Amino acid sequence: MEKLPKKLRQKLSERLMNDAMRSLPLVDGLVDFSSNDYLGLTRNEKLSKAASDFLKIKPQKNGATGSRLLTGNHALYHELEMFLKEHHRSESALVFNSGYDANVGFFSSVPQRGDLILYDELVHASIRDGIQMGNAKSYKFAHNNLEDLNKKLMSFRAESRSDSEIYVVTESIFSMDGDSPDLKALANLCSENDCYLIVDEAHATGILGEGRDFICQLGLEEQVFARIITFGKTLGCHGAAILGSEALKNYLVNFARSLIYTTALPPHTIANLLVSYRFLKDFGKEQCKQLQWNIDFFKQQTEELGIADLFIGSNSAIQCAIIPGNANVKSMAAQLQLEGFDVRPILSPTVKEGEERLRFCLHAFNTKEEISRILLLLKNLWNERV
Ligand SMILES: Cc1ncc(COP(=O)(O)O)c(C=O)c1O
Repeated sequence: MEKLPKKLRQKLSERLMNDAMRSLPLVDGLVDFSSNDYLGLTRNEKLSKAASDFLKIKPQKNGATGSRLLTGNHALYHELEMFLKEHHRSESALVFNSGYDANVGFFSSVPQRGDLILYDELVHASIRDGIQMGNAKSYKFAHNNLEDLNKKLMSFRAESRSDSEIYVVTESIFSMDGDSPDLKALANLCSENDCYLIVDEAHATGILGEGRDFICQLGLEEQVFARIITFGKTLGCHGAAILGSEALKNYLVNFARSLIYTTALPPHTIANLLVSYRFLKDFGKEQCKQLQWNIDFFKQQTEELGIADLFIGSNSAIQCAIIPGNANVKSMAAQLQLEGFDVRPILSPTVKEGEERLRFCLHAFNTKEEISRILLLLKNLWNERV
């Protein structure tokens, strides 16, 4: 028996030929311009002490012991979901093991045969995977383009049966571009056309809306059918939740297979989340302010250095410089890493060919000097290359 079947070996050779081979890198000790730890909570000593104190006062089992529908639904889940619905101003919250699980669970179970899903062409892979697992028809619309969405809405409405539902899906901050749709206009369009709007808030969770999310910041809670918030990024933990009505929660508990057929999160993870959210509520304001300052400074520096045109327009902590070609972007990332900065290349096919990029994730803890230095290095590398 071969170690790997021939067809799979061929697929891997193609990846290699296209300079697109993925691996599991171990990068350590560099200045972080890459992780999703936007506010630096994973490195906060006060927070790790608070988490271990919490567990000393309320000792927990080491594992969940079963699915949430069986023995895995420990009391901390209830406490967390109560907190989340209050904090994120939602009727209910349902915790999943990850954002990937939440999206797959939602999109594979909620839209039904005969329904339509219209999704932004750049939505996360977990949304696409969930859609593929379900029975509804789906079409993409051009990125952040409400005109295109409206056109597709109109043509489906004209042809569809009266009981067909339309679900519209977007992200509040796009993971690979860092930009955002006009959420107010989108919510209005969906309300006017009786569509269900779903917003993935992975990259806004815990930052926008005073430690809540983008929809809260804009006061659009009532116009959104479901929000997906995730805990692996700003919260520095793991897991995710779907925010929506009690009725939606009840439906998902009954039909979302990625919730039902998996072992629940361990109590330690939920305890960590409770402590992190409390910390964010008490001390997060300063970090959010510093992050915003760093974003503004980063953008101002790109202007001053004359390299702003390399970047995709974004007001978030995700700032991407387009460096076409897998080999080029990999080489530039490697050179920045040699200079002590952890910046990762985003290759095709993760993004479209020709749109390969360096993805700079900014953090509250990045210093002014680090930002100035990395952008100067980028400018020099770009000029040497052209
Ligand atoms: C927009 C978006 N949604 C969902 C996910 C998945 O979340 P998780 O890492 O918790 O599985 C990610 C993570 O990369 C993301 O960027």
